[in-house]
Amino acid sequence: MATETIIELGTDFYRDPHEFYRRVRSDGGVHKVRLENGVVGWLITDYALAKQVLVDPTVRKDAYSDTGVAARIVAGQTDAGQILNRHITEHMLNSDPPKHTRLRSLVNKAFTSRAVRALEPRIVEIADRLLDDMERHDSVDLLDSYAFPLPITVICELLGVPVADRDDFRDWSNAVVSVGRPADMRDASDHLDRYLTGLIEGRTAAPGDDLLSELIAATENGDRLTADELVSMAFLLLVAGHETTVNLIGNTMIALLDNPADLSALREDPERIPAFIEESLRHEGPVHIATLRYTTESITVGDTEIGGREMILVSLSGANRDPKRFDDPEELDPTRLRNSHLAFGYGIHHCVGAPLARLEGRIALERLIARFPDIALDAAADDLEWRHSLLIRGLTSLPVKLAR
Ligand code: HEM
Repeated sequence: MATETIIELGTDFYRDPHEFYRRVRSDGGVHKVRLENGVVGWLITDYALAKQVLVDPTVRKDAYSDTGVAARIVAGQTDAGQILNRHITEHMLNSDPPKHTRLRSLVNKAFTSRAVRALEPRIVEIADRLLDDMERHDSVDLLDSYAFPLPITVICELLGVPVADRDDFRDWSNAVVSVGRPADMRDASDHLDRYLTGLIEGRTAAPGDDLLSELIAATENGDRLTADELVSMAFLLLVAGHETTVNLIGNTMIALLDNPADLSALREDPERIPAFIEESLRHEGPVHIATLRYTTESITVGDTEIGGREMILVSLSGANRDPKRFDDPEELDPTRLRNSHLAFGYGIHHCVGAPLARLEGRIALERLIARFPDIALDAAADDLEWRHSLLIRGLTSLPVKLAR
């Protein structure tokens, strides 16, 4: 019989959700949980069961609503239209096959390891320019000065979005992924809809050499993308392309700043950076609990029977510290072998941007550590605040001293 646990979405949960995951996982990997806003779902914190659910074709993204299910449930609302503007929710992450397959195939090839390798020189240039700006200061917020502008600039350039608009864009996108403020989410998504629609009109009139223009061409020739799907695709790529990577950089850096020995090991041997990033993704990945799915029929997960039309939250962070899968899971061990973490998800929705995120993370760390070898935290670690989001695991700011 599954127990109903209450997830308290207060500062304590966000400061250390792992304590909560540890507690519930030791009592079985499947729990019925009620979020602060009253919404009830099934939380999975077991690695093997998380994978089972993520590949089960009867467990779907958008099983019984035509749009915005995830946002609706997370925000605790009954009417999807109240929360997110529907024009931006018709994207692959909210879709099931065959629609998902069609949408994903349109962008897949832009994000293969091979395709993103070609971006390396430009990403290095962007990182170096940000580091040049940082040199004028003794201390900075590393998220504001580096971890945020790097991936947003890359994804804006790739898509063909004016980089000058990135700060507005950041505010809207932050509001869209936050929890518990439906009015803000709705407002921000309306702004994003208008902004992206205008941008697409501009690119339709004057196509460029960018992904958005390619997607517009795909829309015009052969009706493979509807107008709403196009806006939603741009929205998803822009939001997914930076909300997560900023925290890959931030979460990895806080781990290093906490452990100067690891920092000097990477400085001396930058070849170790990719393995460190993989371990950081496992240990404190940017997407923690709200990997949402919906059952269409009853399923058995471990010892638990979950009925049809129920919400499931797969906690990737919980699964990534499952002691049945990882030895000493709470330890950040850069030499860990067989590190097949789930930070990028699993199954058909496995992150399409993973090669880009890994490349950006590696370059970001390499360039930062080389430029500021004595970078140090400029705050007490206990004073750092974590974002209040069920989707995103990341700090609100990361003050650092840049002594060289
Ligand atoms: C999907 C994580 C970076 C684009 C996902 C999913 C996860 C994830 C967990 C699956 C969610 C689910 O199954 O419900 C991450 C992390 C990143 C990152 C941790 C950085 C460290 C990026 C980047 C892009 C991107 C840079 C840029 C293009 C996407 C897209 C999907 C996705 C389009 C939807 C794929 C689908 O539905 O088939 N990501 N992501 N992500 N990600 Fe990422």
